[in-house]
Parts: sequence; structure tokens; C-alpha cells
Amino acid sequence: MEIHQKITDLIRSKRTQLPTLPVIVTNILKVAGDESASAKDLVDIISKDKAISNKILRLANSAYYGFSKNVDSIFQATVIIGFDEIIGLTIGMSVFSTLHEKGPHSILDMQDLWMHAIGCGSVAKKIVKKTVPGAAEQIFMAGLLHDIGKVIFTIYFPEEYRTVLEDAKESQTPLHHKEKETFGLDHAMLAGLLMESWKFPDDLLLPSSFHHNSAACPPNYQHHAMIIELANSLCQRAGIGYSGNPVIARTENISHKLGLTDQDVKTIVKELKEQRSEIEEFFELIT
Ligand SMILES: [Fe+2]
Ligand SMILES: [Fe+2]
Repeated sequence: MEIHQKITDLIRSKRTQLPTLPVIVTNILKVAGDESASAKDLVDIISKDKAISNKILRLANSAYYGFSKNVDSIFQATVIIGFDEIIGLTIGMSVFSTLHEKGPHSILDMQDLWMHAIGCGSVAKKIVKKTVPGAAEQIFMAGLLHDIGKVIFTIYFPEEYRTVLEDAKESQTPLHHKEKETFGLDHAMLAGLLMESWKFPDDLLLPSSFHHNSAACPPNYQHHAMIIELANSLCQRAGIGYSGNPVIARTENISHKLGLTDQDVKTIVKELKEQRSEIEEFFELIT
């Protein structure tokens, strides 16, 4: 009972207790939600933050993106990587650095978790490209942030979460089931609450909240939730990073609903395995 109360308190007084994000995220979210905003508005905001700008330039020139010519300005990076993906990267990096420093690595290896997150974002993008051409960028951020609830558990409930992780491993039970038993909510729901407190838009918040239960996601965002649920499982199958979940969920149902053949799925997993060193480089560049 005590633990449920603690979680309720944490969420209720979220403004004071949950990690707060840098101002750049609020400004970028404004641009993301404003249809009349231009690439220049985005470039202006990013350029004010030297650390983020440098990371974006290094990423734009990394093997992960694999562009043949040298990218030497944020404007150029925005044009070739894409407006939405730059927004995703900037928010992802800010959330990442806010939480990364705080996560106690001894409970859940944060490098493994973020490798899983980057892998999941990459696969989600591949899935979108195969299923909804032309709409790949936004989903990357949902993939990158889908498991942030786990970081919150490790920061605020380290001992309880250590037990949850050990129990799940020992009994080979999906991690989110064990979390729900102990905390009354799982990391996906917690990610949703956190994103709500950060005023993230629904297209980011809902796919993350429902990534272990896409069938229950509100219809408008169900497609995205299915993509993240599938990406999560394919990333585990490819062995990129580790998210503390000992069970790989069966997702044939979801891949078929998304119109992917079993061969498509195999190809995606194979491509992801081949991308390991690029994902490692990506991780090095954003931390
Ligand atoms: Fe998850
Ligand atoms: Fe995950």
C-alpha cells in the first residue's frame, strides 16, 4: 500500500518532484505544434543551445545517417535529416541527458537501456517506411522515449525496482506485469504520465503509453502504438541493448495487421543487427 501511495504522490506533485526538462524542449514543442512554423524557427531555437547544436552536427555527419557530403550547419542538417526528426532528436537528447545523469546504473544498465531505445527508434522508422511511406520521422522520438518510465522507477524506487527486475528474470515474466503487481502501474503508463506532465503532444505520449498494449490505444494513435510495440519486440530479437525485460513478446498479430510479411520482419531484424555499430556510435554521440 505504501508504494502505491508514493507513486500517487510522485505523480500528484509532479511539478516539484519529477525531473524538469530544459527550456529548449518547451520551445521546440511549440514549433512542433505550430503549423505555420518554418525550418528557420527551429534552427533559431536549436542554434541558441551550443551543446545540442554540436551533437546534432556530429550526428548528421555520423555513419548512422551516412550522408555523403559534409553537413556543417543546423539548417543543412534540418533540410537533409528532416524537420520532424530534428525535433525528435533534440527532445530525445534533452530528455536523455536529463535522465541519463540521474539513472542509477547498478539497477538497470543505462547504456543497455538507451541502446535498446535507439534501436527501437530506428526499427520503428523502418516499419513506418515499409507501411506508411513518407511519415517516418515523428515515430523515431516515440521509439527513443518509450521506456523512460523505467528510468523513473530506477531513480525514485531503486530497491523496489531491483526486486521487480530480479523477480521478472527469475520467473521469466514480462517486466511490465511485475511492475504492475508491485507499483500498480507499469513503465509504459508511467512514461505517459511523465510526458503528460511535460505537456508532450498526443502523437508522442499515446504510442509510448500503450507500447505494451496497443490494442487499448485510442484509435487515432493505435497505428503508432502498434509500431512501437512491434519495434520493441524486434529490437529485443535483434539483441540491440537490453531493457530489463526477459520475455520477448509474440507480435505476429501486430506485424500482420500492419501489413508486414514474415519475410519483411526477418529483413528488418537482419538490417537492425547490421546497424549495431552505427547505433553504438549514435549512443556515444548523444551522451
Ligand atoms: Fe517497454
Ligand atoms: Fe522497450
